Amino acid sequence: MISLIVAMDKNRCIGKGNKLPWHYKEDLQYFKKTTMNKTVIMGEKTFESILAYLKKPLPNRTSVIASKTHYAHKDCETTDNIVDYLKRFPKDQEIFIIGGKTIYDITLDLADRLYITHINKEFDGDVFFREIDYSKYKTIKKETNGDLTFAVYERIK
Ligand SMILES: NC(=O)c1ccc[n+]([C@@H]2O[C@H](COP(=O)([O-])OP(=O)(O)OC[C@H]3O[C@@H](n4cnc5c(N)ncnc54)[C@H](OP(=O)(O)O)[C@@H]3O)[C@@H](O)[C@H]2O)c1
Repeated sequence: MISLIVAMDKNRCIGKGNKLPWHYKEDLQYFKKTTMNKTVIMGEKTFESILAYLKKPLPNRTSVIASKTHYAHKDCETTDNIVDYLKRFPKDQEIFIIGGKTIYDITLDLADRLYITHINKEFDGDVFFREIDYSKYKTIKKETNGDLTFAVYERIK
């Protein structure tokens, strides 16, 4: 199963200056719990921003870096063709697309599930998620906690 996980504000803003424009501990905990022990795939820029923050790849997850320029890190796999990688990924395992904008744009249509943290506020940003046609999905979870709504959508087959 191919899943995509993202946090976005009311205007679909997802980033500013290669960072998240907000800091919500609950969302970081949700991201950690949801992706724990799974494979996560991300663009080279998102990997760099994780490395800048944590000084290492995400712990307890298998990280795959999407890079056409063969960027490498000793603890990660790299692919120069993310679409091909996702199509070949074993169907009985869950892989999470974790950003950023370029990678979300390329892969949204391949994702079976969307884990979206809707941040019910507006932030200043420079990268935005594509418009989503929610009529293609059914909502399988929606829980609000303060500014955040944790939603899971599944593509209607
Ligand atoms: N709100 C959220 O949930 C969330 C989550 C993640 C990231 N973000 C934000 O998103 C922003 C970063 O997004 P971004 O678009 O600048 O960067 P990105 O998507 O993380 O990475 C882009 C890189 O992916 C590689 N790439 C592009 N197309 C590819 C393909 N077809 N196959 C393989 N690799 C490919 C290229 O690397 P090479 O140049 O090495 O070829 C490209 O430079 C940041 O602001 C970050 O904070 C937000």
